[in-house]
Amino acid sequence: MKSLKFKNGDEMPAIGLGTWKSDKGEVGEAVKIALKNGYRHIDCAATYGNEAEIGEAFSEVFSGGNIKREDVWVTSKLWNDSHKKEDVIPALKQTLKDLQLDYLDLYLIHWPVAFKKGIGFPKNDEDYYSLEEVPITETWEAMIEAKKQGLVKHIGVSNFSIKKLQDLMDKTDENPEMDQVELHPYLQQNELLEFCSSNNINVTAFSPLGSGDRADSMKADNEPSLLENETIKKIADKHGASAGQVLIKWNEQRGTAVIPKSTNEGRIKENLKSTGLKLDEDDLKEIAALDRHFRYVTGEFFVTDGNSYENIYDDADYKA
Ligand code: A2P
Repeated sequence: MKSLKFKNGDEMPAIGLGTWKSDKGEVGEAVKIALKNGYRHIDCAATYGNEAEIGEAFSEVFSGGNIKREDVWVTSKLWNDSHKKEDVIPALKQTLKDLQLDYLDLYLIHWPVAFKKGIGFPKNDEDYYSLEEVPITETWEAMIEAKKQGLVKHIGVSNFSIKKLQDLMDKTDENPEMDQVELHPYLQQNELLEFCSSNNINVTAFSPLGSGDRADSMKADNEPSLLENETIKKIADKHGASAGQVLIKWNEQRGTAVIPKSTNEGRIKENLKSTGLKLDEDDLKEIAALDRHFRYVTGEFFVTDGNSYENIYDDADYKA
């Protein structure tokens, strides 16, 4: 499997297990199955509400002796209600406690959006801090401090546009090492990839399979399916692979990390095996033509009247 390189020589396995939407009662088992079958990268976040169960799984696996903590790349993310400088390290320590770890390989600012303390999901304007009240640079300085303290090996961001990355880089001394963003054939983000590549920022692809298990309230009417796309299915048939495997491999082949979520044993195994595929020039050309700037995760849930978070991705074609 490919791996992503970091400046200090650390390597992150390109294919990881996603845990967004993985239910309690299932996620621990999924993590154990994944580690047993060769995954060495698990992607977590405080807001997924399942880190304590993942921590139980880590504890069991690592005490078993066959797989060591340092063999596995663990990522987690700072929730939006902990962006104030005094809240970052306590939130990180809670995640470490839940995951039963003493360090993370990678910690990300989950969104460029600040909520008031204790807000899981905002209901109105009062639930937000504006970016003037809690600038992202304040949060970033605390992330740098977490790294200095050895609580995390690498720091980065998630859901940041080129504009937001550039702004952060202009205003602070240390660049993000990762941007985790939605990335798949309908949202190929070539410009962002080029920008990140020329600034030594690694990229991780979320929702690589189209996140069909999102809550209905998050779904647009008639959203296009990646797994049912005829071109993807045709390429899969040609290689004797599944559509999921083609979608995962496409990301791996472009040099990003990719974190397909599954809690199903067969699909967890199937997804890792995608690394054995090789997409050829014709496949890549056909997939390139599928780009349509379509987001499954629109970020519109952060828009309430009067807050400053409209067009969170700074999309040129954004329509209010
Ligand atoms: P399940 O957990 O039952 O396997 P994403 O990673 O884009 O968020 O997509 C996750 C969704 O895709 C989940 O509904 C997951 O279901 C499903 N899924 C995961 N792997 C595959 C696969 N190889 N083929 C089809 N569906 C998959």
